[in-house]
Amino acid sequence: MSPLAANDTRFVVSDDLARDLAARFGTPTYVLSERILRERASRFVSAWPGDVSFASKANNTWSVLKIAFSEGCSIDVASEGELRAALGAGVPAQACRLHGNNKSLQELTFAVNQGVGKIIVDCFEEIERLKELSPLPVLLLRVAPGVDPKTHHKISTGQADTKFGFAVRDVEKAVARCRELGMPLAGLHCHVGSQLLDAEAQVAGAETLVELAVRLKKEMGFVTTHLNVGGGLGVRYTNGDEPVAIEDYCRDIVNAIRTGLKGELDPELGMEPGRSLVAEAGVTLYTVGAVKTAANGRVYVAVDGGLSDNPRPALYGSKYDLVWHASSQGTASHTVTVSGKHCETDTLFPDVQAPVGLQAGDLVQILSTGAYNSVMASNYNALPRPATILVREDGRTQVVQVREQYESMFVRESVPEDL
Ligand SMILES: Cc1ncc(COP(=O)(O)O)c(C=O)c1O
Repeated sequence: MSPLAANDTRFVVSDDLARDLAARFGTPTYVLSERILRERASRFVSAWPGDVSFASKANNTWSVLKIAFSEGCSIDVASEGELRAALGAGVPAQACRLHGNNKSLQELTFAVNQGVGKIIVDCFEEIERLKELSPLPVLLLRVAPGVDPKTHHKISTGQADTKFGFAVRDVEKAVARCRELGMPLAGLHCHVGSQLLDAEAQVAGAETLVELAVRLKKEMGFVTTHLNVGGGLGVRYTNGDEPVAIEDYCRDIVNAIRTGLKGELDPELGMEPGRSLVAEAGVTLYTVGAVKTAANGRVYVAVDGGLSDNPRPALYGSKYDLVWHASSQGTASHTVTVSGKHCETDTLFPDVQAPVGLQAGDLVQILSTGAYNSVMASNYNALPRPATILVREDGRTQVVQVREQYESMFVRESVPEDL
């Protein structure tokens, strides 16, 4: 890849550190920068005049949750497991917001018993499940605002055709039901999609929420005291991606909300960045194991991970920038296809530039893998999930998630004695 632009905030591990980490901890390994994570969290907290909730689905490594919380973020959790991760990291339940389009009674009961701070209600069935529980925390209704963001369809959630949230036409009915049951309903939420490179779609989502809030006040006397616009800000995966700055993005959304509310309501504002907080703070290190030329001339470079530690290329055709750490000295490069080691055509990166003379034992780091990588990792082909190393602000390197061991990988197995 070409050198980083001046406004490029991605973490890049130096050649020496890459070799050192690979030698000490093996590969594939996720490496996270504490400095970049803290910087991005604190920029959000300064730029957004309300609750910044880190969407832990992006990365629920306990140390990441602890850093986000210590920078002033609350934690958005989308399951009992994510809530347990936050609690394990030392985040109080009160600072967690529970999401999910199909929360079970067990999950809701666990969250309420722990004292979760907010629940974002997604459907009528959930209202009926919640009526059995007490004391209920602040409730928000998730609304599908009918906004179609310009992003990959698998990470678009706010359009009219979606499984998430209440259709706009059903919101009054949901408000009425919550009030009938005496529930502490406080406001509205939406999330339009992910990897948004500007604020346009989220502004449109926020405007829909604002119109609804104003209408609910006028027609039902319901006062919205919480308004949450979800996450979605995109990151630089490759040199071609130019996401707007956190500060500009927050300002545009806040201005749209304030303009729309015309002083009629003054809700607490919430936002839930996931990817934009952690993606650029992480890289993945791999070791090259084989370089071969197929019959059609395509050069394949096989690395020691793939689909199981980063399913995004297979799921979404995601692209990333790569930095090679080759032992050969030359500057000449050629086009190769980087594949994983799985029993699939698990192409990670088709047609990328790599040094001529690349050989087994050389390293490559993939930039911007801090979000939706470790959390999406699997054991396909019985590969242990990678370790995560945190590069501390003072340069120390610490293991914050060990490489999965075969013993723990097989702990769920049980073979009946008479089999
Ligand atoms: C409700 C909600 N909030 C926040 C997020 C985080 O989105 P992102 O990582 O794009 O910021 C998501 C992602 O799916 C989401 O569904």
